[in-house]
Amino acid sequence: ERVTWEADAAEKGGYEHYMRKEIHEQPESLRQTLAGRLDVSAGDVDLDVSFPPGFLADLEEIRIVACGTSYYAGRYAAQLFEELAGVRATVEIASEYEFGAGRTPDRTLVVAVTQSGETADTLGAVRRANAAGARTFAVTNTLGSTVTREVDGTAFIRAGPEIGVAATKTFASQVATLAMLAVAVGRDRGALAAADARSVLKDLQGLPGAVQQVLDEEEQVREAAREYGDGEAFFFVGRALGVPVALEGALKLKEISYDHAEGFAAGELKHGPLALVTPDTPVLAVLTDGARAAETMNNVTEAQTRGAPALGCVSAGDTYDTLDVSFEVPNVGVVEPLVANVYLQLFAYHVANDKGRAIDKPRNLAKSVTVE
Ligand code: AGP
Repeated sequence: ERVTWEADAAEKGGYEHYMRKEIHEQPESLRQTLAGRLDVSAGDVDLDVSFPPGFLADLEEIRIVACGTSYYAGRYAAQLFEELAGVRATVEIASEYEFGAGRTPDRTLVVAVTQSGETADTLGAVRRANAAGARTFAVTNTLGSTVTREVDGTAFIRAGPEIGVAATKTFASQVATLAMLAVAVGRDRGALAAADARSVLKDLQGLPGAVQQVLDEEEQVREAAREYGDGEAFFFVGRALGVPVALEGALKLKEISYDHAEGFAAGELKHGPLALVTPDTPVLAVLTDGARAAETMNNVTEAQTRGAPALGCVSAGDTYDTLDVSFEVPNVGVVEPLVANVYLQLFAYHVANDKGRAIDKPRNLAKSVTVE
């Protein structure tokens, strides 16, 4: 028993939980994700993947299939594919995916995002895509996993092993890998100018350092968790790239704290959920989406008017005096919401830790879900 306990403690490297260790590993795991893949001067990416000649130029649609946190990484990536690669991109929950009518298999790329590479729902979607004749691609953390044997091409996210059931560093590395893929596809299709690609690549280069800056603010998050962690329910909101981050923030909190948490597009608050808002329902907002952050702040104010405390992840340089708590997010362009997410990971962790939850192995959940 003692030996096992000591081995376990050593594995956690001084952290009480794998989850907190993995949150703190993100600057390093992101460096691994990016290592040797960015060619900033050329404005291009080398992901060591290839497609048949002309395939990307003729591409009609990228369809992303995934579950849980990987699905939110997919929601983030779909916006990047549209913006950077100039191609229609849709995301589907893997268990709901069907190839569907009105689509052209040989002009469709189906991208499965799966940390483990073993999720039954995602494998099922890949098999349906293959059966329809689409080209399939995997973004995964796991060498030799089942998904890699069933797709036409794979990009590894290189995040290293993740033990905590709650996905943290793998979400960051998934989004970073998909952002690189979006740049690669955009460059290949001639949809992304070298100068624009270069600016995205510089933001990616800045990502590990930006995440470190957030980690250095952990004490502020710990205090906020202590002050607001007893809420009856928690609402996470954002716009554009902030939406998947809001959804992911809510999933993380519910998964490990067992508190009720929901995420949605900020504009939707007034179309129903506002009825649930009270002084006991903190609102956490991702306010990193450039010009649109002010609109999100209007929605947050509507919640504050009903007495809800408001916590915001705010782009460095912006200020919203009415927020109860402001977490500063370094400016790193399209990956800024990904950096904001680190605050939400820490918030979920500290709320759950204050409640003494089984953070690394939440009740009823498994790291890898191998049944449909
Ligand atoms: C995330 O915290 C969850 N544990 C879960 O949603 C997970 O992301 C999902 O089961 C998908 O797993 P995969 O990435 O291994 O396919």
